[in-house]
Amino acid sequence: MHNQRMPELRMGNLIASVPIVQGGMGVGISRAGLAAAVANTGGIGVIASVGLDLLNGTPKNRKKGVSVQLLKQEIERARQLTDGIIGVNVMAALTDFEALVDVSIDAGADVLFMGAGLPLHFSANLTPERLRSLTTKMVPIVSSGRATELIFQYWHKKYGRIPDGVVVEGPMAGGHLGFKKEQIDDPHYALENLVRDTVAAVAPYADDYGMNIPVIAGGGIYTGQDIYDIMQLGAQGVQMATRFIATHECDADMAFKQALIDATEKEISIIISPVGLPGRAIRNTFLEQVEAGVQKPFNCPYKCLKSCDYKTAPYCIALALSHAQQGRLQQGFAFTGANGYRVDKMMSVKELIDELAGEYCTVARADVMAAVGGE
Ligand SMILES: Cc1cc2nc3c(=O)[nH]c(=O)nc-3n(C[C@H](O)[C@H](O)[C@H](O)COP(=O)(O)O)c2cc1C
Repeated sequence: MHNQRMPELRMGNLIASVPIVQGGMGVGISRAGLAAAVANTGGIGVIASVGLDLLNGTPKNRKKGVSVQLLKQEIERARQLTDGIIGVNVMAALTDFEALVDVSIDAGADVLFMGAGLPLHFSANLTPERLRSLTTKMVPIVSSGRATELIFQYWHKKYGRIPDGVVVEGPMAGGHLGFKKEQIDDPHYALENLVRDTVAAVAPYADDYGMNIPVIAGGGIYTGQDIYDIMQLGAQGVQMATRFIATHECDADMAFKQALIDATEKEISIIISPVGLPGRAIRNTFLEQVEAGVQKPFNCPYKCLKSCDYKTAPYCIALALSHAQQGRLQQGFAFTGANGYRVDKMMSVKELIDELAGEYCTVARADVMAAVGGE
């Protein structure tokens, strides 16, 4: 009777039957394999575009532009594996941001998730006219209602359009965080507050344009109950990453997945990465050596990150993350969300989605029963 299924996530004409976006995980943690598996369950699968040129061994001659070609192949590979929704995560902090955006659109990505900086400027190919007629949905990733307002205002004035949705990522997320170190544990920046602020920032624009602009919440979402709770605050979907690491389909080496399964709460800690932002990772010998001042010499054939001061950086973050992705954790480390220590076993993507949907349904049903006074 009271079958309270998770609602669909709608972005214009794009409809995900499961309102879960698998957060993009670079370097190589979410490639076509994971993204297609998520898309096949009805969620949105996301390929991370950063550092694709560093996988399959560690090429000595990295060249600017190679990642762009490899991203095209990755999107085409995902297309062969699924008819579902495929997104691409592109970091605005990358020096080839504009080219990665262009190739994603040309290769037919359904959604572009643009984070790690404000996505305000695009290549000359993306004229305001073209931006207004894109079929690819454009979705910034933000950390506040203020950043949302800034992006929407800028796009409205400069391009005569607004984003199709927005991901708001709180301080419990994995990878680089859009917060200062001291803000991470400050309840003011709790995801619940950020969702309320973001929903409020989007509302007037959604009204003006007569569009539904979904707010998608990420960072620390772990159970179906978490999904239900955050959707009660106005989120229309969630972005989850950490839970997808320990899946059979995740594109990382088994040693990377095992590092997450073995991680304790104490080992999950905040690091300041060479990018200049805090990040959340599993503490290991590599990170301890870096903290103790050990330098990990490297060549920087091209500057992949705008904000990286490669001349003073103690190590190359792209290289370290690619080593970890390939299972060489002594030469790198694994990013994780704050709830990573709760992951204790491998499962398939379908099992994970089914578990989350079941939990959501139980909580939603109990809520309905409580509202009608039980039956
Ligand atoms: C291993 C790992 C790699 C990540 N890489 C990226 C990335 O390349 N770009 C990005 O925008 N976010 C990245 N993130 C953040 C996720 O996309 C996601 O928004 C966040 O981790 C959600 O929180 P959760 O892991 O608690 O579910 C990464 C997270 C992890 C755990």
